[in-house]
Amino acid sequence: MEQLLQQIESYRAEISAAKADTTTAVEEFRIKYLGTKGLVKNIMGEMRNVPNERKKEFGQVLNDFKLFVEEKYESLKAATAGSENNEGDGTDWSLPGDPITVGTRHPLNIVRNQIVSIFKRLGFAVAEGPEIEDDWHNFGAMNLPEDHPARDMQDTFYINQNPSWLLRTHTSSVQARVMETQKPPIRVICPGRVYRNETISARAHCFFHQVEGLYIDENVSFADLKQTLYFFVQEMFGNDVKVRFRPSYFPFTEPSAEMDISCLICKGDGCNICKHTGWVEILGSGMVHPNVLENFGIDSNKYTGFAFGMGVERITQLKYQVNDLRLYSQNDLRFLKQFTGVI
Ligand code: PHE
Repeated sequence: MEQLLQQIESYRAEISAAKADTTTAVEEFRIKYLGTKGLVKNIMGEMRNVPNERKKEFGQVLNDFKLFVEEKYESLKAATAGSENNEGDGTDWSLPGDPITVGTRHPLNIVRNQIVSIFKRLGFAVAEGPEIEDDWHNFGAMNLPEDHPARDMQDTFYINQNPSWLLRTHTSSVQARVMETQKPPIRVICPGRVYRNETISARAHCFFHQVEGLYIDENVSFADLKQTLYFFVQEMFGNDVKVRFRPSYFPFTEPSAEMDISCLICKGDGCNICKHTGWVEILGSGMVHPNVLENFGIDSNKYTGFAFGMGVERITQLKYQVNDLRLYSQNDLRFLKQFTGVI
């Protein structure tokens, strides 16, 4: 009996020191100690030879021993779990993985989103419309009847099969669709791609992106237009940028003005981007022409409105000093990757 207790103690020491670093070794451990013909079962069998008055004491020792072996088995099993694949094929699973390259936003989308979020904060809603338009929404409704010379300002792509369809030359066509379906007060911005038949070069492309805005309500004034655009410029380019308005002409606005900002590249000293004037034009704007309002049944005696339109490429050029328009559509990763992390 005493001998048996001593033996259990030495088994404990042996088991305590046991190691198994593969699943096969762990299984061997289980069979050796916990299997149906294993050590624990064997010792349990000794119970028969224990005198009755010591059975209780011995039973306790045996139970403890069994628990001890089971715990050891569980811990060996846990230690090898997952390392299973280390066996055999020589793969080093601890090597770092291949980096997953995160995509980047296109610079034009980054800037478009910035423009949109500034106007959203002023209460403008986003409106979108089709890129293939009819003459009415792109020109007619915008106070450009068929023989209007100002149609030449925007070299238009017509659809061969049906020349009354065209690729929109500005997102004013979306403003037309909004006025057609909504009643004042109207406050929308229209971001989108537009097309003009221009020879592709560093300074011109056959498509580009615009954000146009339209605000119609009672008592909307030119002062509102200016203040809205001042706010936009400050949010977009910072407080140091200077702004100026120049009288201009658009068939759909009267009076009309173009807006310049002081050149961000040379800070007004004169450079290639500003053609050495210190100023760059960033948008066209004006008070919505009464004819346009009336085209949509909006009473021009009661309502007034302002509209503006800007090119996203131009704003991006100024923000990121991109000096060739073609870069935007060439999908050159060396260019696109420069905008990693910008949201
Ligand atoms: N639609 C004009 C363009 O594409 C921009 C503009 C919009 C000008 C609204 C004035 C008012 O050039």
